Amino acid sequence: MLTIVQTADGSNTIYNPQVGENYHSKHGALQESRHVFVNSGLQYFLDRAGNLEAPVSILEVGFGTGLNFLLSADLCDQKQINLNYTGIEAYPLTKEMIGQTGYEQYISAELWQQFNAQYSPALSGEVSISPNCKLQIANCPLLNFQSTQQYDIIYFDAFAVAYQPEMWDDAAIGHTIQYLKPGGVFVTYAITGNLKRAVKALGCKVEKAPGAPGKREMLRAER
Ligand SMILES: C[S@@+](CC[C@H](N)C(=O)[O-])C[C@H]1O[C@@H](n2cnc3c(N)ncnc32)[C@H](O)[C@@H]1O
Repeated sequence: MLTIVQTADGSNTIYNPQVGENYHSKHGALQESRHVFVNSGLQYFLDRAGNLEAPVSILEVGFGTGLNFLLSADLCDQKQINLNYTGIEAYPLTKEMIGQTGYEQYISAELWQQFNAQYSPALSGEVSISPNCKLQIANCPLLNFQSTQQYDIIYFDAFAVAYQPEMWDDAAIGHTIQYLKPGGVFVTYAITGNLKRAVKALGCKVEKAPGAPGKREMLRAER
């Protein structure tokens, strides 16, 4: 049974007993999501992009609780940036489970209310979460995901390689990187020799960035 557990920064995550792993770092779900995805991914992209004309597009592998989406959408709302967000999730959580995460503390009340109302519809197609934010969640395994679109930013948030090695092999990484725009940014919380090699072989520039608390380094790549 999936259970809510508290992490070291006081924010909650979910423990999946079948996988034997949490959805986020035990050192802090909130600080991991902010550091790895929002600051090192989205904010990094925005700082580099300067004035944006088109919406920012994000693809997330492993949508889970939606924490990365919520923090990203909240930032974009505050900065009045248009956001098109696509999550890939093979095993969507129930709305009730997401309702128990307590993530409403970290974002605006309107965003939380809209996310709750639109989460289930988002699993079948694109929905509007706010005037500047669109969300869709592809309910399929990563390797079955198909799109004609490429994205500015990819958040790669699979379970760790020790628990789900098939999410980190060359086929999975290659399938993911094909959806990154030239000039786009790929971020993930981990860094391994194999991941670096695979991402480099796909024509990306790879950088070891400082990791979230509990991890010395994370990987950021640019295509
Ligand atoms: C580390 S958790 C993601 C945490 C999530 N980003 C969040 O903030 O809650 C990994 C996610 O990958 C999903 N997953 C597992 N196998 C998958 C696959 N083959 N394709 C897509 N998603 C998968 C899991 O169900 C889980 O939600």
